[in-house]
Amino acid sequence: MTQSSNEMWTVTIVVPEGSSLDEAGETYDLEVGTDETILATARSAGVWLPADCQQGWCTTCAARLVDGDVVHPNARRYYDEDDEAGYILPCTAKPRTDTTIVVDQHDDFLEFRAANDRPPGNSKLNG
Ligand code: FES
Repeated sequence: MTQSSNEMWTVTIVVPEGSSLDEAGETYDLEVGTDETILATARSAGVWLPADCQQGWCTTCAARLVDGDVVHPNARRYYDEDDEAGYILPCTAKPRTDTTIVVDQHDDFLEFRAANDRPPGNSKLNG
């Protein structure tokens, strides 16, 4: 029988003041397991972050990594330049350290993807 890791990390979720989410201006500290996604844990805790595909594909959930480290083992499209620019997809992101993110970054991330000639970039911006 394999034993999965039960390591837990503190993920601090910052919802910007200007966000259209009900949680605008709030900050949440959540305990997220190594095998759990930030999005699923947040929703279980009643923090209803934006998401659509939940497969690391649509970019609706995009957030900025302010501090810490996450992995995206199941994201359908997540690029090295996303990582280098500090963008994450909380629907598939799993923490590897204590981590702080700023959520509700979809618009900025679409611009970033378009500028890097990556999907959904221009197709969503112009569609
Ligand atoms: S909800 Fe689609 S990429 Fe995260």
